[in-house]
Amino acid sequence: MREPHIRLSLPDAAATEGLGARLADALPDLSRSGFVIHLQGELGAGKTTCVRGFLRRLGVAGIIRSPTYTLVEPYTRGVLTCAHVDLYRLRHPSEIEELGLREYLAPHCVLLIEWPDKGAGQVPPADLAAVIDYDGEARRAWLRSHSSVGASLLERFVAQ
Ligand SMILES: Nc1ncnc2c1ncn2[C@@H]1O[C@H](COP(=O)(O)OP(=O)(O)O)[C@@H](O)[C@H]1O
Ligand SMILES: [Mg+2]
Repeated sequence: MREPHIRLSLPDAAATEGLGARLADALPDLSRSGFVIHLQGELGAGKTTCVRGFLRRLGVAGIIRSPTYTLVEPYTRGVLTCAHVDLYRLRHPSEIEELGLREYLAPHCVLLIEWPDKGAGQVPPADLAAVIDYDGEARRAWLRSHSSVGASLLERFVAQ
């Protein structure tokens, strides 16, 4: 079966932030399960920009940048906990265990993981994968769901 997917063009950085905001708006009911988003794409593609738009929409203020050295940055807004993960500097997939990502596989939690491929099979699987690619000076993105909660996010996303 082919998972549902969506293709978007992102003419500028504001559009990439907007994508993150739209993803936040489309989050399904998380009272029974958490949600995992993988962000893939080359260095500088716009993964962090997208996460920033997502967290801002949920009301996170202040500077939002990649947790390049700590690898995980948690944010709490009301009942929701989001953890922004950047695995670019992960040396070995075995280090994933120490990051305690499993703690976030719980109701009212969202994991946003940049460079999930660096963690090989140790990374929590995606409900939704966002791939951002260079398109000249601009970018394009693909969204693909990998679970039923991921599919409900995409349904809400297109209905917005
Ligand atoms: N759609 C876009 N078009 C042009 N520039 C973009 C777009 N989205 C993001 N950028 C810019 O790309 C740069 C790198 O973005 P960043 O989110 O840090 O990338 P990554 O986390 O994938 O390494 C930033 O300067 C950002 O403003
Ligand atoms: Mg980044």
